[in-house]
Amino acid sequence: MKFTKLLAHTGLLSIASASCPALTEPSGYEWIAPTPEDSRSPCPGLNAMANHGWLPRSGKDIDLAALQRAVKGAFNFAPDALDQAFHIAVDFNLTTTGNSSTIHLSDLDLHDAIEMDGSLSRNDYFLGDNTHFDPVVWVSTANRLGLYDCVETEADKFVTVEKVAVARALRVQDAMRANPRFNASAAQQRGSPGTTGLFMAALWNDAAGAVPKTWVRSFFEQERIPYLFGFDPQARAEQDSQEIGALVGRILQVNVTLGGCPFSKPGLAGLGARHFHGFS
Ligand code: HEM
Ligand SMILES: *[C@@H]1O[C@H](CO)[C@@H](O)[C@H](O)[C@H]1NC(C)=O
Ligand SMILES: *[C@@H]1O[C@H](CO)[C@@H](O)[C@H](O)[C@H]1NC(C)=O
Ligand SMILES: *[C@@H]1O[C@H](CO)[C@@H](O)[C@H](O)[C@H]1NC(C)=O
Ligand SMILES: *[C@@H]1O[C@H](CO)[C@@H](O)[C@H](O)[C@H]1NC(C)=O
Repeated sequence: MKFTKLLAHTGLLSIASASCPALTEPSGYEWIAPTPEDSRSPCPGLNAMANHGWLPRSGKDIDLAALQRAVKGAFNFAPDALDQAFHIAVDFNLTTTGNSSTIHLSDLDLHDAIEMDGSLSRNDYFLGDNTHFDPVVWVSTANRLGLYDCVETEADKFVTVEKVAVARALRVQDAMRANPRFNASAAQQRGSPGTTGLFMAALWNDAAGAVPKTWVRSFFEQERIPYLFGFDPQARAEQDSQEIGALVGRILQVNVTLGGCPFSKPGLAGLGARHFHGFS
């Protein structure tokens, strides 16, 4: 239970529970670690929804209706907010279920379909395991987000749009440098701001205008919806795909300078092809 120990050590656990004493996970939707028989994906969002039973805990035979119920229940997204992502998986013929209307989560592992190089928390296909959470890759992202920094001011508790935009761009740059076979296509590289914006939208805290670091850690490190740290999606307004897209847009607008080259070139957002998660 390294994770819990770490939280106790930084004092964050006590802060979180002091401000809100009776934090529990919703009945029937408690986090349960997957068994080896359960199907999981390179997507922490889908995995977390399965770990809580918003999606079938098996991770198997998931249809669009199941996904719609899950995104609404788990994150208060509009039920159709992620339809396009599901349709893309279907269009890529990734399903192995024997029914073209359903997928197993592990069907999404296939490299160079939706799964791409330069993920925040997964290694590149050529370098290792592109599917499971990778602590070494993650620590580079976590450090850039200051997830383990001491909390001295209120601002230290949150990940901002600016911080996440820089961390994302640097992670892609790391991958391009480390991986001689880096081959995320231009279309796939637009998936990187898309997935970054998606987790920010999923965990967005309206009052802070940012995302609590404890929530980011729970989401990526345990694939656990951060109810125990005060996350309450039903207490905020439903978000549709346009609102998620607007957050992706804000991430793309942050000017990130990498080795003297402006990374976020004008036009990257508007190349015409669809974004992977369906936001432009
Ligand atoms: C609540 C909804 C969702 C959230 C919050 C979410 C979040 C994320 C995040 C943050 C990543 C990037 C992980 C990283 O960079 O380490 C990711 C990757 C991915 N997601 Fe999702 N996702 C959601 C729904 C979906 C859906 C509906 C699909 C497809 C049916 C999907 C398929 C994938 C795939 C294949 C990847 C791997 C891309 C890569 O290699 O980085 N996700 N997702
Ligand atoms: C998926 O299968 C259909 C029907 O066999 C085919 O037309 C289409 O090109 C395939 N898509 C991809 C991305 O391979
Ligand atoms: C395939 O899945 C869809 C969506 O769940 C379902 O309506 C349909 O009955 C399934 N088809 C078969 C042959 O099981
Ligand atoms: C991408 O890289 C992998 C190995 O890193 C390779 O197997 C695959 O064929 C490459 N795809 C393209 C489109 O070049
Ligand atoms: C980024 O730089 C461009 C061009 O210099 C500028 O127009 C834009 O306002 C900047 N964006 C932000 C968010 O500062």
